[in-house]
Amino acid sequence: MKKEKLIIFDTTMRDGEQSPGASMTGDEKLRIARQLERMRVDVIEAGFPAASDGDFEAVKAVAGIIKDSTVCGLARANEQDVRRCGEAVRNARSPRVHTFIATSPIHMEKKLRMEPSQVIDQAVKAVKWAREYTDNVEFSPEDAGRSDIDFLCRILEQVIRAGATTINVPDTVGYTLPEHFGGIIRSLRERIPNSDKVVWSVHCHNDLGLAVANSLAAVLSGARQVECTINGLGERAGNASLEEIVMAVRTRQDVFPCDTNIDATQIVPASRLVSGITGFTVQPNKAIVGANAFAHEAGIHQDGVLKSRDTYEIMRAQDVGWNANKLVLGKHSGRNAFKARLTELGIELPSDEALNAAFKRFKDLADKKHEIFDEDLQALISEEASEHIANEHYHLVSLTAHSETGAQPFAKIVVSEDGKEKPAQAHGSGPVDASFKAIESIVQSGAELLLYSVNNITSGTDSQGEVTVRLSKGGRIVNGLGADTDIVVASAKAYISALNKLHSKLERLNPQV
Ligand code: KIV
Ligand code: ZN
Repeated sequence: MKKEKLIIFDTTMRDGEQSPGASMTGDEKLRIARQLERMRVDVIEAGFPAASDGDFEAVKAVAGIIKDSTVCGLARANEQDVRRCGEAVRNARSPRVHTFIATSPIHMEKKLRMEPSQVIDQAVKAVKWAREYTDNVEFSPEDAGRSDIDFLCRILEQVIRAGATTINVPDTVGYTLPEHFGGIIRSLRERIPNSDKVVWSVHCHNDLGLAVANSLAAVLSGARQVECTINGLGERAGNASLEEIVMAVRTRQDVFPCDTNIDATQIVPASRLVSGITGFTVQPNKAIVGANAFAHEAGIHQDGVLKSRDTYEIMRAQDVGWNANKLVLGKHSGRNAFKARLTELGIELPSDEALNAAFKRFKDLADKKHEIFDEDLQALISEEASEHIANEHYHLVSLTAHSETGAQPFAKIVVSEDGKEKPAQAHGSGPVDASFKAIESIVQSGAELLLYSVNNITSGTDSQGEVTVRLSKGGRIVNGLGADTDIVVASAKAYISALNKLHSKLERLNPQV
């Protein structure tokens, strides 16, 4: 029997970007968008164009380059947002406007301060404005999981009549349970007279760890679009993770009446790309994309797996893109080979100058590290890109760190600020602590360190360490990333990258606040 299609709607660059510190530059969004297209994602939600001029331009740029996926932007249900969104996506080969308004009693009363009838009017108007730009319009009743089902039926019937083509049902605060959420979708489809005119979609948050379970329950109740993110990135505890949805549906085709069009071998590269760009690393035991997801530690498991893989494996690692990190380049590789590999990875550098700068970084790395893998190239490009944010106000010139048993570690550092070199030194509880103190004595940011984490990019002791530093100042949270074979240097780079982001003052608006 021919299976129905399950549409995969990726919102890594919109909802994912609402995670504190996960904001992305336009170039980073283009890189992610290309990877999503390569993975054959059906709909890419590229951002919230009314958030900032930067986000408008980023969505427009994504709309300009993506050919095989629909490009979508988010808009609150007001004329200005919808028109801004319509303008940003209108040149896409396949554009979509996604507009939303809250429908739960608590949101209508306390956030919107609107009567239910006003909410319906506004939703209908928003859908009609959106239809002036495209006939592909999605509507979401925000906080549907806590909304009254009769009210949902009323508003959704009217927005469908106004021209919405996809109805997305969000569990905005991750409150529902699988049976309950599946029941909501079933009731809406059964009770709304024109429900067969639209595609039913779901958008689940993971506050109770149920985002994937709730989304799958909805699919079994007839939803044919799932909104999800790479690595489950997203507000608070995140969204349903794309890789888990795709692989659950694929692995349990005995249960699901539908399947996706995703090229699953692109999942691990996408996961690496997104964690590298956002600085949100993936926990080792994360399903599908965690480092241990396919590692068989226990002796009895190894024995079984050696005899026959399907004793303990329900999926094959290579089917989701593991082991694809081919040894690509080495010390003697030339500029053309480097450029060709970047192209294969979907990375296009904007100019010859940028290519030369990246190639120089590659050569420096190849001097320190024998074998350069795809992940090293991704990290190298992320670092190069993040240094260009804010025209790199601060730059690490040199670092000497000293640690010795029985002696107090210290670091000597030279940082350039707007091109002017400034030296400093400091002691600390370890070389990383000493380096951060030395940097802070120059920059005097007063920022609070919220997170410091180190990950190895590939395996082996010569691997590059990738460091994430999350800083908070004046209500803003930023993530900085740094990679190097020396983790003290990687840490200093990450700290400086976060300081550059704080300095850039790039501000964006969260659509739901
Ligand atoms: O969680 C949510 O309700 C959303 C909507 C804007 C779809 O992100
Ligand atoms: Zn959301």
